[in-house]
Amino acid sequence: MDTPLQRGPIPSALLQTIYASDQAMYPAPLPYERLRSWVAACPDLSISFGESIAGDHVVVGVMIALPLVRSHWERLLSGELREADVDAEAMFPDGREGAGVVEVGVHVFHVERFEGPGVSRGGRGRWPRFAGLAVDEVVSRAALVGRWRVVGLSALTATDAGRKSFKRMGFTPTGYKEIFTVPDQAFGTAAMGAANNRQEIAGGNPGVQMVCVYPGEESVESGKSRLSGCHVISASEMTVRYMS
Ligand SMILES: CC(C)(COP(=O)(O)OP(=O)(O)OC[C@H]1O[C@@H](n2cnc3c(N)ncnc32)[C@H](O)[C@@H]1OP(=O)(O)O)[C@@H](O)C(=O)NCCC(=O)NCCS
Repeated sequence: MDTPLQRGPIPSALLQTIYASDQAMYPAPLPYERLRSWVAACPDLSISFGESIAGDHVVVGVMIALPLVRSHWERLLSGELREADVDAEAMFPDGREGAGVVEVGVHVFHVERFEGPGVSRGGRGRWPRFAGLAVDEVVSRAALVGRWRVVGLSALTATDAGRKSFKRMGFTPTGYKEIFTVPDQAFGTAAMGAANNRQEIAGGNPGVQMVCVYPGEESVESGKSRLSGCHVISASEMTVRYMS
């Protein structure tokens, strides 16, 4: 019988690996130091999952989730607050909200199942449906914090596997999307800027621009004309699952 996965904190070398992986999937202007501050402020929701294989400890997957006071979480859902602008000191629950119960939304920043030994890329290995297992762990840890009432979970899905996994877990789109582009050489950056006044430079990744689509605005598909002159390198969608 399989032994259960071991749960542990995320050491700094692993955090740097996660940062690189996240930036490759989702090229937002997130400084490493900000990621480190999130993990430091709530280490309980940053988890590495591992198992012993032939005497070695092998990390099979990771999860980093951020607890936000409800008012900030709701701004994140609508795109008013960008993920990279989440400030742990100001937005995580820390007792300043008063003595009573505090309503919290838990945002999944990163979930990843690593390709283990003998597992081909895209293969499921020994831990299928890892995302569900990792989300369940976060939900049960958050429930143990007596003062919190978790009102919902969210995730900004950036990959096909992520989109499928969160949809399967009952997450639905809030309508906020981010599209990352690089200039199409045929059009050049000047044409891009003129075509869409909502584009911004994604500061951490020079040359990458971000287009935001807010709830109630056009779909990514119907907004394609706004993107003429750009090459889309990544598209993310905010999703939410409210707790009953
Ligand atoms: C997201 C992730 C943790 C989900 O792990 P999981 O719960 O074990 O689920 P799986 O990876 O087995 O598969 C999820 C679905 O995506 C599909 N999928 C997996 N890799 C895929 C890929 N590269 N492209 C397209 N679809 C893919 C699977 O076939 C499966 O589809 P199904 O639900 O129709 O069966 C894992 O796929 C992963 O680590 N991916 C890389 C990192 C990542 O994308 N993180 C999420 C960012 S939003």
